[in-house]
Amino acid sequence: MPATAADDYDIVILGGGSGGYACALRSAELGLRVALVEKAELGGTCLHRGCIPTKALLHAAEVADTAREGEKFGVKTTFESVDMAGVMSYKSSVVARLHKGLQGLVAAAKIEYVTGEGRLDGPHTVVVDGRRLTGRNVVLATGSYAKSLPGLEIGGRIVTSDDALRLDHVPARVVVLGGGVIGVEFASVFRSFGSEVTIVEALPRLVAGEDEAVSKQLERAFRKRKITVRTGARFAGATQSGDVVTMTLESGDTIEADLLLVAVGRGPVTEGLGYEEAGVNVERGFVPTDERLRTNVDGVRAVGDIVPGLQLAHRGFAQGIFVAEDIAGLTPAVIDETTIPRVTYCDPEIGSVGLTEAQAREKYGDVATYEYNLGGNGRSQILGTQGFVKLVRRADGPIVGVHMIGARIGEQVGEAQLVVGWEAFPEDVAAFIHAHPTQNEALGEAHLALAGKPLHAHS
Ligand code: NAI
Repeated sequence: MPATAADDYDIVILGGGSGGYACALRSAELGLRVALVEKAELGGTCLHRGCIPTKALLHAAEVADTAREGEKFGVKTTFESVDMAGVMSYKSSVVARLHKGLQGLVAAAKIEYVTGEGRLDGPHTVVVDGRRLTGRNVVLATGSYAKSLPGLEIGGRIVTSDDALRLDHVPARVVVLGGGVIGVEFASVFRSFGSEVTIVEALPRLVAGEDEAVSKQLERAFRKRKITVRTGARFAGATQSGDVVTMTLESGDTIEADLLLVAVGRGPVTEGLGYEEAGVNVERGFVPTDERLRTNVDGVRAVGDIVPGLQLAHRGFAQGIFVAEDIAGLTPAVIDETTIPRVTYCDPEIGSVGLTEAQAREKYGDVATYEYNLGGNGRSQILGTQGFVKLVRRADGPIVGVHMIGARIGEQVGEAQLVVGWEAFPEDVAAFIHAHPTQNEALGEAHLALAGKPLHAHS
């Protein structure tokens, strides 16, 4: 389409993932003229290759485990097999429904949705297939991609999470390279689907961003599920021949598998998009911003995974909304990244918010902690799960971190986030009655104990 005067907007957004579309929707709500440019599918990584499809697989994994474990609850069930085509079709149907809903929202908001690969051409222009979209503001929201390691070529039996979401069979043996969030979620899925799973992690523990106690409990739970965990193990190389992929570690050990899943982090998508040519500062691929998500170039903002920090969809949503409101002149409060909740959906699940014990000690010196064991929580016992709720507070001060592990425990992160965000004292939370018998009660009991009046807690 040729350039026209009508191609002038209040905001032009490059990238239709969580950060980009949230910004577009909020901008439209605020009466701004918005263009949203997306080269692939509206919804980006989260909807098509990340959060949603992986959690669908994790749910199918839970169903498989439930079928296996019926006997434990006195229900006679038998687990037959996992039909990968069926799993994929269930996953795709969930994604398709949400995708359709999102497309409807964008259309109803009268956002100019432009399909094609956009490129920044100066601070106020995005070019898409020769069409020049100009904006008083431009928002960069181009997201992230699955990284690999030098010398490790993706292809064949060596895959990233993108390919793992399209598998047509359950591999008998899987080696997962990287014991971070993606690594442990996929390890959990494959194990539930019946694969033999080995995780190779260079650091001394799994999910190294979490509190150390959580990593320990996860490792214990994974070993119980017969997932082999090799921490402190560095990748040296991998070869493929015939039906086998062989990974070599720096120690010289080798691991054979049918599939090698590479989960060593996600890199920002910023190359070849004209950012640097337009004067935008790019550091190690990321676009640094100030607290109002402004880049160094006037009129250019950035949101989502390209901005250094947690790569989480809900952070992207919040940043997108913030930018829209800031541009519209609402002067929203700056986003507090320390209270962004984190949930890892492996079995057992992990939910956390705020500082780990180690981070709190470094920041405040004196801290107190309390670990409430789910052994005392009725609902968790009914579910047959183990784990804990750990609280970290400043000495005689507010709660600064909540760390939880156990089946379904991610759903409890909402209260945890209010506690940390509102700088509550254990006594404040203890005064609220928590519903019995819920897993939420475990949060209440942890606060009761830390306030000096434990109920169902063994010291
Ligand atoms: P990650 O940074 O969480 O984990 C990568 C892991 O690979 C690290 O533990 C690292 O030590 C390890 N590693 C790197 N090089 C290695 C080597 N040579 N040998 C052995 N191990 C090595 O990144 P991940 O898991 O790929 O996830 C990417 C992003 O996506 C994360 O920021 C995560 O927050 C986000 N995400 C969030 C989810 C959620 O909120 N539930 C789900 C999936 C991803």
